[in-house]
Amino acid sequence: MRFSVLSFAALSAAISSVAAIGELGFDLGVKVASGDCKYTADYLSDFETIKSYTDIVRVYSTSDCNTLEYLLPAVKQAGMRVFIGVWPTDDSHFALDKQALTTYITEVDASSIVGITVGSEALYRGDLTPSALADAINEVRDLVHAIDGYESVPVGTADSWNILVDAANSAAVTASDVVLANAFSYWQGQTMANSSHSFFDDIMQALQTIQTAKGSTDISFWIGETGWPTEGQSYESSIPSVDNAATFWQESICAIRAWGINTLVFEAFDETWKPETSGVEGTEQHWGLFAEDGVSPKYSLSCNF
Ligand SMILES: *[C@@H]1O[C@H](CO)[C@@H](O)[C@H](O)[C@H]1NC(C)=O
Repeated sequence: MRFSVLSFAALSAAISSVAAIGELGFDLGVKVASGDCKYTADYLSDFETIKSYTDIVRVYSTSDCNTLEYLLPAVKQAGMRVFIGVWPTDDSHFALDKQALTTYITEVDASSIVGITVGSEALYRGDLTPSALADAINEVRDLVHAIDGYESVPVGTADSWNILVDAANSAAVTASDVVLANAFSYWQGQTMANSSHSFFDDIMQALQTIQTAKGSTDISFWIGETGWPTEGQSYESSIPSVDNAATFWQESICAIRAWGINTLVFEAFDETWKPETSGVEGTEQHWGLFAEDGVSPKYSLSCNF
């Protein structure tokens, strides 16, 4: 592995209150290959594949594809846990997501809900100001905590590591019980040789800034998205391949979990319905740990802890 001693010492200090190996979960798409929405049976089939690796999945919206309505019965039946996403923009989408959240959340026990994230890279895209996002987080917390039995479900947000390190965004962090930081060495155009170093450096900076903003090391922190594509065009010095994804898994994902950082990997399954992004044709569809209809992972998902 390649990282500086200084980074590791600082990271170690930053997470000194954490002893255990970080948890693992997978980000999960809500559409099948045709682009149609998944139903409960599709989620059950996903969980059949996933559950020997993790019991945690994350979704991004409650109302798109009627996600919560169809997902939560599968979560309950398969004994999974879930990060539920609420989409805070625009106002009508936010209203639909709040409605679906309060309608369906009681389908599973509060103990099955790892957290609720309001927004996914909303600040990165400039969809909301930090204070408007903080208001949305507080509004969702009030709604959920008013439901009997759900008073301690953590509510927060997810954004890119470089947004979270910017003190101008701290209102969203201080409003959060749980913060998810996304970091993709691929999208930073890193060589495979430097990807682990870059990843640790990014996450360490995000974690330290969040701890400073919260005035505490006792916060719930997750990597919200990371991973490496297995096919598609290169981005600067980053080359998609199964071998590179396997290397990133070992040197970055396993390694940061070994330092106690909870990690959600983007993403469980390939999403071939996704449109192309100009310049990186063939990449967006191939971030899956499993092929779309796969039952075996594309490469080993074990870690040597
Ligand atoms: C490797 O990653 C570090 C941390 O992100 C960065 O400062 C450095 O410039 C990178 N090195 C190369 C050769 O890109």
